Amino acid sequence: MSDINHDTPLLRVNGLSKFYGNRLGCSNVSFELYPGEVLAIVGESGSGKTTLLNCLATRLQPSVGAVEYRMRDGQFRDLYRMSEAERRFLMRTDWGFVHQNPSDGLRMTVSAGANVGERLMAVGERHYGKIRETATDWLGRVEISADRIDDQPRAFSGGMRQRLQIARNLVTAPRLIFMDEPTGGLDVSVQARLLDLLRGLVADLGLAAIVVTHDLAVARLLSHRMMVMKDGHIIEAGLTDRVLDDPQAPYTQLLVSSILQV
Ligand SMILES: Nc1ncnc2c1ncn2[C@@H]1O[C@H](COP(=O)(O)OP(=O)(O)OP(=O)(O)O)[C@@H](O)[C@H]1O
Ligand SMILES: [Mg+2]
Repeated sequence: MSDINHDTPLLRVNGLSKFYGNRLGCSNVSFELYPGEVLAIVGESGSGKTTLLNCLATRLQPSVGAVEYRMRDGQFRDLYRMSEAERRFLMRTDWGFVHQNPSDGLRMTVSAGANVGERLMAVGERHYGKIRETATDWLGRVEISADRIDDQPRAFSGGMRQRLQIARNLVTAPRLIFMDEPTGGLDVSVQARLLDLLRGLVADLGLAAIVVTHDLAVARLLSHRMMVMKDGHIIEAGLTDRVLDDPQAPYTQLLVSSILQV
C-alpha cells in the first residue's frame, strides 16, 4: 500500500448526523482522512453506510455537523458552505464516485472511449487525439482491450462496466475517491480480480479513498483503516488489521466470527 501522509488530513468530519424525518440515518460521526489513506465503512444492511458516504460526498445534505476538505491551495473549506457550482467543480476534478451499479456512473449509450474522454474534457482537455490516447491508455489499465473503445457499455459485461466506471473516475487523477460496494453486483471470481486491480491503482496513484462494503474481505484487502457501523452509529474504528484480528466491540466480534475466512 502507498505511504500515508499523516501531516495534514484531506478530509475532516465533525459531528455528522443525518435524520430522515424521525428515522436515524447516521449519528455523530467524526473522523479524519489523510492523503493516500483508504478507509472502509462496514456494517450490516441498513446500518447507515450509504447515508454516511453520501453525506461526505455532498450527495446528501447532513442534518448536523461539518465536513471540511483541504483544497489544492491548502485551505480547508466546509463543503456545505460552498456554492453548488464549487461543489460540482470538486466532483469533476478532485473527486471520483464509483457506484455499486455501473449504469449509475456511466453513460450507457455513448462509447467506452467517450465515457472516459468526457471526464477529461470536463477538466479542460480539448485535443481530440490526446483525449483518445489517454482514454485508450486507461482502458488498458483497467484491462479493457483497445478494440472495445468504440463499443457502448451496454455491450459490456458487468465486470467490464465496473472497470470502465473506475477508468472514467480515475482518468482525471482525483485526490479522493468514494466507492459504494464497488464489487457488490459481481460474481466472486470477477470480484477478486477487480479488487486486485483497484488495490493496485489506488496504491499507484496514492489516492485517498472511502469504500463502503458489507464484505469484511473487501475491507481487509483494500483498506488501511475501518469503521464499523450499526444502527447509524460508529461502534468501532481502527487500523483494519487490528479491528479484524482483535475486534473489541461485541458486535464486531460477532461480525468477524461469522465469516469463515477474512
Ligand atoms: N431516502 C430515505 N428515506 C428514509 N429513510 C432512509 C432513506 N435512505 C435510507 N434510509 C434509512 O436510513 C437507514 C440507513 O440506510 P442506508 O441506506 O444508509 O444503509 P446501508 O448501510 O447503506 O444499507 P445497505 O447495506 O442495505 O446498502 C435505514 O434505516 C434506512 O431505512
Ligand atoms: Mg448502502
